[in-house]
Amino acid sequence: MSNARILGTGGFLPARVVTNAELAQRVDTSDEWIVSRTGIRERRIAAPDESTCDLAEGAARQALDAAGCLATEIDLVIVATTTPDRVFPGTACLLQDRLGIHGPAAFDVQAVCSGFVYGLTIAEKFIRTGSAKRALVVGAETMSRIIDWQDRSTCVLFGDGAGAVVLGASDEPGILSSHLHADGAYKDLLTAKNTMTDSGCLLRAAGPVTMRGNEVFRMAVTTLDGLVGETLAASGLQQADIKWLVPHQANTRIIAATAKRLGLSMDQVIVTVDRHGNTSAASVPLAFDAGVRDGRIQRGDVVLMEAFGGGFTWGAVLLRY
Ligand SMILES: CC(C)(COP(=O)(O)OP(=O)(O)OC[C@H]1O[C@@H](n2cnc3c(N)ncnc32)[C@H](O)[C@@H]1OP(=O)(O)O)[C@@H](O)C(=O)NCCC(=O)NCCS
Repeated sequence: MSNARILGTGGFLPARVVTNAELAQRVDTSDEWIVSRTGIRERRIAAPDESTCDLAEGAARQALDAAGCLATEIDLVIVATTTPDRVFPGTACLLQDRLGIHGPAAFDVQAVCSGFVYGLTIAEKFIRTGSAKRALVVGAETMSRIIDWQDRSTCVLFGDGAGAVVLGASDEPGILSSHLHADGAYKDLLTAKNTMTDSGCLLRAAGPVTMRGNEVFRMAVTTLDGLVGETLAASGLQQADIKWLVPHQANTRIIAATAKRLGLSMDQVIVTVDRHGNTSAASVPLAFDAGVRDGRIQRGDVVLMEAFGGGFTWGAVLLRY
């Protein structure tokens, strides 16, 4: 059985920055309200002709480069996304074609904001059992396409982007433990429904996002509290062994509650939500890449990734980078 280790990371953001002030010109909101409730100051929004696959490709190429890995050496492609470019084929197939990878398994994972943590866990199982040697795992989203831009309670929260890692078989430790959960009983608290005709035919896929924010907030805090406890207990590590928390970037108040539970100072948390907003499945790999690129996350550091999202789905990955 091989260990699965992160060999390289990448991130890609659309060029267009949308500030809170710009949103305040469109809906009844303010920079002060958004910052105090969420920590978000700005987000990136994809250009009209920029697809989820375009963002995924940017992040993937950077991760391959950082890993010193040729695209043709990849034998598994997983894209976590809630905003695929097509109903089918999956975005992973579109990405695979762009990268010139032909033959290896490629599929999408749909677990909303927990999607990357799900994808990374699946890739780790492939590597650990010898079914793959080098996996490309991407979280990519164009959430702006499924937002109601007139709904101030949701449109201020989300952003577009992509993050990626190359995960490879290694003798050195990598992913130490991972835990995935879901409970569909909460399906209606955070959702983007298809629009159907009266006769039950699909009229329009996906959107807009609707959310009962308060209830999602409460569930996120309590669920993540249990999740990080479970992950630590299973790994045999202590709280003090964790050097970095790389949380899903939805809200600084949720992030701060998780950090407190782990006894970590906010200096040990990679926060990008202020600049990216909530990029759903892209948020964890984008934040991880940011921490690696600016030199905070070093080889050998123990990192805890966690996420919570629609479903509800939630999951954590503890790893040695
Ligand atoms: C969305 C969230 C920031 C809202 O904050 P909140 O303190 O719960 O605010 P509420 O929803 O209770 O709304 C309070 C008031 O602010 C208003 N409001 C909502 N959005 C607003 C906005 N963008 N600007 C100004 N006012 C806003 C509401 O209409 C409400 O007004 P009312 O009291 O007159 O009815 C918060 O619930 C949250 O972060 N939830 C979790 C979201 C999340 O993480 N989702 C993704 C999980 S993957």
